[in-house]
Amino acid sequence: MQDFSRERALAAQLAREAGHITLKHRRPEGVAFTEKPDDEGPVTAADKEADRHIRAGILSTFPTDGLLTEETPDTGEWRNQHRVWMVDPLDGTKEFVAGRDEYASMIGLCVDGEPVVGAVYRPLGDVMFLASKGGGAEMIVGGKSVLLRVSDEIPNPVPIAVSRSHRSKRVDAILGGLGPVKEVPSGSVGLKIGLIANGTVHAYVNGNSRTSLWDTCAPHAILTEAGGELTDLFGNPLDYKGSVQHLYGLFAATAAVHKHLVPRVREMSMGVVKMLQELPEYPRNAFRPPP
Ligand code: IPD
Ligand code: CA
Ligand code: CA
Repeated sequence: MQDFSRERALAAQLAREAGHITLKHRRPEGVAFTEKPDDEGPVTAADKEADRHIRAGILSTFPTDGLLTEETPDTGEWRNQHRVWMVDPLDGTKEFVAGRDEYASMIGLCVDGEPVVGAVYRPLGDVMFLASKGGGAEMIVGGKSVLLRVSDEIPNPVPIAVSRSHRSKRVDAILGGLGPVKEVPSGSVGLKIGLIANGTVHAYVNGNSRTSLWDTCAPHAILTEAGGELTDLFGNPLDYKGSVQHLYGLFAATAAVHKHLVPRVREMSMGVVKMLQELPEYPRNAFRPPP
């Protein structure tokens, strides 16, 4: 198996440095932002500075690799490369802008469409989730590392992470059909998936069509290495070579809970699609019917 230890070390270093950049900009009372066009959410000077830092760090070490980052216009060049770094310099900007703690800097590497390296760094609390294919997944808190391996149990109720700031009726409808669940709200896609890897929750349901490759690449590598699964809401593998956005929602869980719940998640999601198709216009942000 290929050794990704250099890439893993670089991802960890740059995610940590990016996190420290965001801290310089952070104000507990709130941070100035502008709204991106096309309803893409807020952006701050911290997102941009962290993006530039990570970009420069990757390109100076691996100059021939592809790069897709949230805050740099996408030229599409990465589509011709077999190694592509996917970067969200600040995941959970809404939380950051509100002065809350649950946001992260995320750096992932995809090789031939498979996430193989991931670093998700939460600067508040100094928490790093880190993994590489075949190299294990770990959580490092204040310099102390613990190995991440998800449990085989199916707890009752199942603790499930949900968005703190982007809650939707679609997700309520899906969760409503899963039997006993306990909702755990958190910001940042990467941190919610980190909560599965470290055993705090056992699953995460996302009902959007606009979560992007940079939101999942790093946490996907971490979850897979820790023994979990990340698919769309219909149980299909995520595609890292097609659309930049994950059009069919996300379902992440430990392997045991994924296998147990995926038929219900699929069925409930199909029910939601049917309801949405009856509206005069299909909501832009809602996950799409399966292909
Ligand atoms: C998500 C994050 C993320 C964005 C996703 C959102 P959450 O919201 O803000 O940055 O790219 O589309 O769903 O999970 O932090 O509430
Ligand atoms: Ca994001
Ligand atoms: Ca972001």
